[in-house]
Amino acid sequence: MRNGNESLPVVDLRSDTVTKPTPEMRKAMAEAEVGDDVYGEDPTVNRLEQRAAELFGREAGMFVPSGSMGNMVAMRTHTRPGQEIICEERSHIYGLEMAAMSALAGCLARPVRGVAGVLNWSLIKEAIRPKVFYSAQTGLVACENTHNVAGGQILPPELAEEICDGAHDAGLPVHLDGARIFNAAVALGRGVQELTRKFDSVMFCLSKGLGAPVGSLLLGSRQFIQQARTHRKILGGGMRQAGVLAAAGLVALEKSPSRLHIDHENAKLLAQGLAGIPGIRLDPSQVRTNILVFDVRDTGMTCHEIADRLAKKGVRAHAMSPATMRMVTHCDVDREGCMRAVAAMEEAVRPSPVPVASRA
Ligand SMILES: Cc1ncc(COP(=O)(O)O)c(C=O)c1O
Repeated sequence: MRNGNESLPVVDLRSDTVTKPTPEMRKAMAEAEVGDDVYGEDPTVNRLEQRAAELFGREAGMFVPSGSMGNMVAMRTHTRPGQEIICEERSHIYGLEMAAMSALAGCLARPVRGVAGVLNWSLIKEAIRPKVFYSAQTGLVACENTHNVAGGQILPPELAEEICDGAHDAGLPVHLDGARIFNAAVALGRGVQELTRKFDSVMFCLSKGLGAPVGSLLLGSRQFIQQARTHRKILGGGMRQAGVLAAAGLVALEKSPSRLHIDHENAKLLAQGLAGIPGIRLDPSQVRTNILVFDVRDTGMTCHEIADRLAKKGVRAHAMSPATMRMVTHCDVDREGCMRAVAAMEEAVRPSPVPVASRA
């Protein structure tokens, strides 16, 4: 996509989901060996599932069309209707998945406000229902790493382990929405296996920072994944010759983690530039991965107005609310694109000069 005014490519910072498959992914897709995956006969899907399970040190994995479906299947597999799911107040499964946990798992959300999006065991413990017959029972604890709406915040491994240990002692399973777990791993310099080892199930996305066009993986024990397959089918997620998608996913899984530090450096650069613009409230020291969430209310404009102005300058950003804007770096935006975004923002929020005739 090109910016009509300047014939420069559009800098699309709305999300890391906007990336296009690389030539290597397209080649792998074109050449993929395929079969009917509902029968378990697609060799490329099988390879992707095995490789993902191996990387995370799990017994089994299952390819799903989206992160939302991966989370949904996990919720249905871990819980039964009438239970509650403890999750962070601004988590994706609570706020951005169409109330699927109630519509499709029959569960109520029990949202808990984390510290800048980060949950800890003492917060979760308070929200667990007592085991009494007249109260809905807690069925699952769900965490998110990195936390999207909280600006790519990392759930520190020590807190994650404490949450899992506490929940397990209370007889509760813990699911991780690890849509961007590779970003967390790269930022911390730790492996994904280490960051996720105590969770009962993990979902991660190929189609976010890793740059694949479609797909996510759900990982867990062999028995859990066997049950999860029935829930995927109920939700219409049984795909046939899905190897054409899995092939791109395999390239993403092997190649992309080693370049995510570039997205983090670009996000930092972008944050430092934006933080210097009057009216923008943003602390660059809080930006550790590829997501920036910042407050624009002091510019006197709404996010939507700013987003419109940016779009005219060839830069796209996501208006999360009238006051809160999000930008996400990814493999299709480089350092120069981030500098252009800062320059465009400077112009977009600059107060218009007072016309000469109306000056006193
Ligand atoms: C943290 C998180 N979890 C889950 C999802 C859902 O992924 P999908 O868009 O593939 O359904 C997203 C999407 O942005 C996300 O940010």
